[in-house]
Amino acid sequence: MDNLHYGKAWDPTRHYQDAAVADDYDRARFSSLAGRLFNFLDRRAVRHALADLPAGSTLADMPCGTGRLTDVALTLGFSVHGIDIAPAMLAVARRRLAAFGDRFTTAVADIRSLDPARRFDVVLSARFLMHFPPDEQRSLITALARRARRRLVLTHGIDTALHRGRRALKRATGLFQNPAAFPVTEVELAQMLAAAGFREIRRNRLLPVVSEAVVIVAERTGAS
Ligand SMILES: C[S@@+](CC[C@H](N)C(=O)[O-])C[C@H]1O[C@@H](n2cnc3c(N)ncnc32)[C@H](O)[C@@H]1O
Repeated sequence: MDNLHYGKAWDPTRHYQDAAVADDYDRARFSSLAGRLFNFLDRRAVRHALADLPAGSTLADMPCGTGRLTDVALTLGFSVHGIDIAPAMLAVARRRLAAFGDRFTTAVADIRSLDPARRFDVVLSARFLMHFPPDEQRSLITALARRARRRLVLTHGIDTALHRGRRALKRATGLFQNPAAFPVTEVELAQMLAAAGFREIRRNRLLPVVSEAVVIVAERTGAS
């Protein structure tokens, strides 16, 4: 695992534009023992977050990256639109998901300036928000929420005293996945969702106590 996430120069909107980074994304992050465990847990949690919705639902995976989680929704019978700012990441996703035909489409776009007219039953956003400081997270959640008719599924890191200590240990030992650069408190998360017109209906902690990682399932509080 690299620790570039925490370098001042690291920019999550530019880093993945490099074709070599995109081609190596899954191997670099998810081939170690810890990586494979977290990938399995991420996929299981996303499946739980979606499994109660009808097949045929539409989902936007924003950002889609290499499509690491996209096939979970496709296998449940969803139609998926993968959006990412990095063409190189989407190229990997298209290769990986070619067997799903036209149920998987892609677009290169910046989540901060999407076409407001195009909406989906569900918006999934994984391993994204935690790369940005709280003010940016607030506007990103609002941008994601505007595209979701019914449900938002967000992966995040919850900031608690226990996990602040664990984070220091993880960075020192390199034994676990990189923790979130900008985890949120429970209050911040609830406020960000409320400001976007959503509320949490359930969550799935990936590895309770050991990890701060959580998959949040939220739905609209009023008519869309
Ligand atoms: C850590 S990857 C996560 C990808 C995928 N969701 C996953 O869980 O594997 C972050 C992705 O966010 C994309 N990204 C960063 N800033 C973006 C933006 N403003 N709009 C759209 N995509 C963006 C990057 O290109 C990269 O593919």
